[in-house]
Amino acid sequence: MAAKFRVALSGDFKKADGSPTYPDFDLKPLKGAPGVEMEFLESANPIRGEQLEDFDALILLAHRFAKESVPLGGRLAAVARFGVGYDTVDVDACTEAGIALVITPDGVRRPVAVSIMTFILALTGKMMIKDKLTREAAGGFARRSDHMGVGLVGRTLASLGIGNIGAELFRLAKPFEMKFIAHDPYADKKLAAELGIELVSLEDAFRRADILSVSCPLTSETRHLVNAERLALMKPAAFFINTARGPIVDQKALTKVLQERKIAGAGLDVLEKEPPDPDDPILTLDNVILAPHALCWTDQCFAGNGAADVKAVLDVQHGREPRGVVNKVVLSSPIWQRRLVKLREQFGA
Ligand SMILES: NC(=O)c1ccc[n+]([C@@H]2O[C@H](COP(=O)([O-])OP(=O)(O)OC[C@H]3O[C@@H](n4cnc5c(N)ncnc54)[C@H](O)[C@@H]3O)[C@@H](O)[C@H]2O)c1
Repeated sequence: MAAKFRVALSGDFKKADGSPTYPDFDLKPLKGAPGVEMEFLESANPIRGEQLEDFDALILLAHRFAKESVPLGGRLAAVARFGVGYDTVDVDACTEAGIALVITPDGVRRPVAVSIMTFILALTGKMMIKDKLTREAAGGFARRSDHMGVGLVGRTLASLGIGNIGAELFRLAKPFEMKFIAHDPYADKKLAAELGIELVSLEDAFRRADILSVSCPLTSETRHLVNAERLALMKPAAFFINTARGPIVDQKALTKVLQERKIAGAGLDVLEKEPPDPDDPILTLDNVILAPHALCWTDQCFAGNGAADVKAVLDVQHGREPRGVVNKVVLSSPIWQRRLVKLREQFGA
């Protein structure tokens, strides 16, 4: 029998009762692909190398892929994360073993940009307070003129980062007729010009924004990029939004400016500590809208992540370079190139 391209799914793609964790992840295109065999692993965290000996690719949910997860046989070609975070993966171990680590920017781009728009509209529209007023019936209605919203036309939308998600935010925001500014030291200037975004210094983004949103990665350079000093530059009527990673923001400093009403409010999908301590003061503030790192979780986000992973894995099966490779250096390594040639011979390009 001809050899198969074997794909493992981490055990956490199934619940304890055997049902799928995320039913929106459509496995039919993988199951139906010629020459492919797929199997769920037993739950193990981190995944053990011996579990992956007979596999060519792994689709990975939340379990860790550590050094000891690398199978010794050398057959595993790709680890495809379901999402774009990869702090659960030992990237160096992947690179050393010639394994491509793949993420799914195509799956999250629109859903996270929509989350930012959701925060923008809910904050400026005073949606949370208006919901509360309505539930208070006559007493609430009597106070409604105390809670004017903020119109968006001509206001300045700023983003820290105009990569995959930041750029999509500006595409979505186009019909709102705002001014667009962004700070991104590695910005694609052509893209910025195409989208009508003025590139500005970090301080100017804080100073000029009516709405400031964070869409950069968490790195040693961006940890606490949003700190007391920079928050102090913001206008009192401005809103702050973070859907990127909690530790980019000094949350104590943000809590303080919100408590002292030095800015108008914030929308946070991510916190420095997740889940937060129950007595975290940020949970008590009425000028912040919070989400449990899941505002972008929709049927389409999960379907999109799944489809991107399936596509990446099938690309590898046919000896094609997949999209979304994190450890790009692996793509020029002899071990990876030999593998691709072999797969092309086996399954056709
Ligand atoms: N809330 C969620 O569920 C969720 C889901 C997906 C992604 N994210 C997060 O969103 C963030 C952005 O994701 P993406 O797909 O757009 O990433 P990306 O890599 O495509 O874009 C990030 C951009 O940030 C820029 N950047 C790097 N350092 C910077 C700095 N010091 N200041 C300003 N910009 C800087 C980069 O040049 C790049 O253009 C990431 O932190 C990611 O983890 C969150």
